[in-house]
Amino acid sequence: MLYGVFSDVHANYEALKAVLAFFRRNKVSHFICGGDLAGYGPQPAECVRAVMELPDTAVVLGNHDAALVGRMELRWFNNNAVKALEFARKCLSGAELAYLAALPETVKTDDFTLVHGSPRKPLTEYLLSETQFLENLPHWETSPCFIGHTHMPVYFRICAGAKEDGSAPETDFLVPMARMMLSGMRYMLNPGAVGQPRDGNPRASCGLYDPEKKTFELFRVDYDVSKTQELMAAAGLPRILMERLALGL
Ligand SMILES: [Fe+2]
Repeated sequence: MLYGVFSDVHANYEALKAVLAFFRRNKVSHFICGGDLAGYGPQPAECVRAVMELPDTAVVLGNHDAALVGRMELRWFNNNAVKALEFARKCLSGAELAYLAALPETVKTDDFTLVHGSPRKPLTEYLLSETQFLENLPHWETSPCFIGHTHMPVYFRICAGAKEDGSAPETDFLVPMARMMLSGMRYMLNPGAVGQPRDGNPRASCGLYDPEKKTFELFRVDYDVSKTQELMAAAGLPRILMERLALGL
């Protein structure tokens, strides 16, 4: 079994199509999606529909998805994000909104844990530090724990039971094309963002997880950034949201 792992699609259908094509080429059979299907980008309906139609998919609610269905207040979002959410609300059908409204905040299986932000605060915490990783350890069990929300591909890891003997966790940015072995430790893995990367690399980010071989590998996938930008301009979305896609910021 091979999982395609992705998060933070953000209504960027050009990027999502490229990532799904990459998964198909790699014979992915199951999918793990860390949420935020909508928000920021020009094609929320196409993105929600594409994920709805994937077979064998674990999906959690993102904060932008939550705002769209009234599960989170708009005061948590900046002006540009609110404009994009108002645009998305007009694009989505009743069936697509109902799908988002029914998404869980946490998924636990025998192979992994999945949340958008963090295990203790699934919709709001940006998990970026080792301190936060340690504080979250009591809140999840099955490793790896996949997260999203920060749009930064990163991992945290610690030996099982290491907290008691004073060992410090390790953190690093995931290195594309470097296959990680996931044995003997507890891992938290962020596959980065499909639709709005923020690590200075504009290519769509995603990963492959093999629970039998215990491996995770990060990949970056080219997509037509200018096409997404044209669609954003036509939709009247804020200029800064368009420009950041080319920079990966
Ligand atoms: Fe996001």
